[in-house]
Amino acid sequence: MFAQNDDRNELIAMLAWQLDMGIDEALLDDPQVDAVPLRLDQLLAVAAPAGDKDVSQTAMGGTALQPSEAVKMANSALANSGAIPSEDKTNTDSSALADITSLSDLQSAMAKLDDCPLKHTASNLCFADGNPGARLMIIGEAPGRDEDRMGVPFVGADGQLLDKMIASIGLDRASVYLTNLLPWRPPGNRSPTDEETAMLLPWLFRHVQLAKPEFVLLLGGAAAKLVLGSHDGIMKLRGRWRDVDFGDGLPRPVLASLHPAYLLRSPAQKRLAFEDLLLLAKQLAAVRPNDESG
Ligand code: URA
Repeated sequence: MFAQNDDRNELIAMLAWQLDMGIDEALLDDPQVDAVPLRLDQLLAVAAPAGDKDVSQTAMGGTALQPSEAVKMANSALANSGAIPSEDKTNTDSSALADITSLSDLQSAMAKLDDCPLKHTASNLCFADGNPGARLMIIGEAPGRDEDRMGVPFVGADGQLLDKMIASIGLDRASVYLTNLLPWRPPGNRSPTDEETAMLLPWLFRHVQLAKPEFVLLLGGAAAKLVLGSHDGIMKLRGRWRDVDFGDGLPRPVLASLHPAYLLRSPAQKRLAFEDLLLLAKQLAAVRPNDESG
């Protein structure tokens, strides 16, 4: 009858989240142990079918660059960086990123990416946090001041809210892997230029390929637009699963949702974010890790 301690803590976190959202009454007439799956089914019934996918456009409102151009820019930046020994530089072609085969090598190569202007104004590279083997990879936008200082994504106020959000569906930093669209804080939190995003997007895609998550959660309009290749706003993009091929020929289910920074400014929208989290929880529960066939 009574939940174990871990379950109990999860239930308390879910209740805290719901209270925080302003939910103050039960949705069902009778208390039910299975109330959450039931509501998830109802939510899924109204979710729109998966739609367009095209990963060739930038999100920041500027020129759309084709992935091949972006990959070329990333590779030429990589070739000019200290990440490749000078005797090998003449041989560097568009396979240079593909030649990076581990997350730690990717992190080291990014740390030497001197051609990216953002590197020179940031204090630290914010590569990732959490569990690199997690089923879920969360992609935010860019490090803020706190993240820049510590070199870790999502450690400031946004990160604290994100922790509460994922706790509401029973996850924590040990069960997710976190990174950002941009690994360096743009000075004064300015928007990145098209060149900067074009240069860094292939690195993000390689990051996803190497982390091999089963699911990807995009937080905020910039990450959603750029990864989904859409000009639509986050309110249109959020809340439905789409398959995205991050370049390894393995389409991954991707869900876009609202960014915690936006939720801090607009707490009334936490209801929508919670709907998205429930979709995510439903999918994580539906596909068990042991279902890995093959
Ligand atoms: N916002 C983000 O998108 N990422 C961070 O790491 C911090 C704030």
